[in-house]
Amino acid sequence: MKLTLNNGVEMPATGLGVFQTPPDETRTAVEAALDVGYRHIDTAAAYGNEREVGEAVRSSGIARSEVFVETKIWISDYGYDETLHGFEKSSAKLGVDQIDLLILHQALPSDFDKTLAAYRALETLLADGKVRAIGVSNFMVDHLTSLLDKAAVVPAVNQIEVHPYFQQRQVQAFGAAHGILTQAWSPIGGITFYRDGSHGSTLEDPVIGQIAEGHGKSPAQVMLRWHLQEGRSVIPKSTKPHRIAENFDVFDFDLTDSEVAAIDALDTEQRGGPEPTDITLESFGRPIPEA
Ligand SMILES: NC(=O)c1ccc[n+]([C@@H]2O[C@H](COP(=O)([O-])OP(=O)(O)OC[C@H]3O[C@@H](n4cnc5c(N)ncnc54)[C@H](OP(=O)(O)O)[C@@H]3O)[C@@H](O)[C@H]2O)c1
Repeated sequence: MKLTLNNGVEMPATGLGVFQTPPDETRTAVEAALDVGYRHIDTAAAYGNEREVGEAVRSSGIARSEVFVETKIWISDYGYDETLHGFEKSSAKLGVDQIDLLILHQALPSDFDKTLAAYRALETLLADGKVRAIGVSNFMVDHLTSLLDKAAVVPAVNQIEVHPYFQQRQVQAFGAAHGILTQAWSPIGGITFYRDGSHGSTLEDPVIGQIAEGHGKSPAQVMLRWHLQEGRSVIPKSTKPHRIAENFDVFDFDLTDSEVAAIDALDTEQRGGPEPTDITLESFGRPIPEA
């Protein structure tokens, strides 16, 4: 299943996420994903595993043009020249000439001018054909509004936390109104169980569990299907081949309208990840190594 971005580029709706995947397990995870049909990988400069992602893509023997590679510029590399150099570091580690989708990992509200300069660098990379599409991540409505005010290119994607317990409907609606595709991170609610949260694990939710049982599917598969039926891109992470396969096996069933509505109703509006307004270079900055 593919989604068409606002510049006409096609992106496979499901990608493999590799946040917290140790470098020495990344190659196996990406190989397992490509083996069962994934054609999209989501990494980031800050994840420290771009090199292994690139190695797995190359060793798969699948044509480079068939695999959609997405990565993110970390805040420590914001600024026009710094972000151009950030692209050089990421593309060298990935071993690719062109990145399919390059996004800003976070807004930097305390230094939004630097964020804007980083985005201008993405626009240059796009104009030069070094990237096929550009976007953002963790941008809230006020960040998107300030960006759209200055940007020449509307971001193709905003990658944000979306799972049944935190749905960010306002951000999604703002994106939809401006042609910005929502890509869900923690799509099966990983952040609700690997980070201390107040609302428990989405994997153990009784409503999701019951829907899953009715379809003979797992809770993770139901959540992924829910995103896809609502038009979002998903990037579930696993290092385990059987789960990587499970998370891609979501194309043989449909949720009914009332099942979708029942999952929509689980929103607690409680964020699992860091507050986007709290992101500063002082608290989150760290150097991204040269290639
Ligand atoms: N832009 C951002 O700021 C940001 C933030 C967070 C994440 N992301 C991106 O989004 C991707 C996914 O998000 P995420 O890693 O936070 O959460 P997720 O994909 O919702 O959940 C991942 C967690 O669920 C487990 N898991 C995976 N498949 C499963 C299954 N079928 N059944 C049971 N458990 C399963 C994984 O463990 P095992 O690996 O042990 O299977 C891992 O602990 C990341 O890898 C990254 O690419 C972006």
